[in-house]
Amino acid sequence: MASKDLEYLPNHVAIIMDGNGRWARQRNLERTEGHLEGLERVRGLVQHCVKVGVEFLTLFAFSSENWQRPESEVTYLLHLFVRAIENEANQLEENGVRLAFIGDLEAFPNELREKIKSIEKSFPPNPKLLLTIAANYGGRWDITQAAQKVCESVLSGVIRPEQINIDTIAKKMSLSEIPEPDLLIRTGGEKRLSNYLLWQLAYTELYFTEKYWPEFDVSAFEEALIAFSRRERRFGKTHEQIHSKDVESLSQ
Ligand code: FPP
Repeated sequence: MASKDLEYLPNHVAIIMDGNGRWARQRNLERTEGHLEGLERVRGLVQHCVKVGVEFLTLFAFSSENWQRPESEVTYLLHLFVRAIENEANQLEENGVRLAFIGDLEAFPNELREKIKSIEKSFPPNPKLLLTIAANYGGRWDITQAAQKVCESVLSGVIRPEQINIDTIAKKMSLSEIPEPDLLIRTGGEKRLSNYLLWQLAYTELYFTEKYWPEFDVSAFEEALIAFSRRERRFGKTHEQIHSKDVESLSQ
């Protein structure tokens, strides 16, 4: 079965792209080679999402904790991001992909911040796919910055503390303009969220695979979509509830 034929396609897929380093080590390559190969998988996946109709793709490219890596690897990753943005922007736009970023971008070098700002402005609205890159992102940072904004609203008298509800906070979180992820994929064998989209993943289906990110090709992605589709069908409901025609026939 191909994912384009699936009844339930996730509208928003979030991914923790893990295992670049281990993939490289297995092949006696530098860790940076793993990141480079990982970028190739991103390219293929973006094209595939456009093809099958996934509308939102949110990738964890650099976590708040990644600064703790060796300086040379951090520098390499930052250069890779700048190069990728420069090289891919036109192609993305031609394919109807809009690029956006979430995370604490203040910590990045000026060059990267400027590139990010100009790229976000340059894309047209109503894309086929919104590709969001989480960079220097952490779920706890996200909740904290939302709390700060809510506090500012209280201090300026826009709302009273007792009026704060889930929706008030949700509106201040990153990705508040788009639907929450339907499916989270984590490659590389670990089964944890590693501080990714903690608020936004509350109801998301989780899919973990042993494959390292550079091995996660289009057919591996299709497997994840198929697994998601099957899970949605068993979402605690009965077949009859989902297919209302069958309910009618049962009651006859
Ligand atoms: C995790 O693997 C991967 C990263 C921290 C970097 C991810 C970046 C890319 C795939 C490049 C994509 C670029 C853009 C612009 C989207 P790891 O290094 O933690 O692997 P390990 O756990 O095996 O060491």
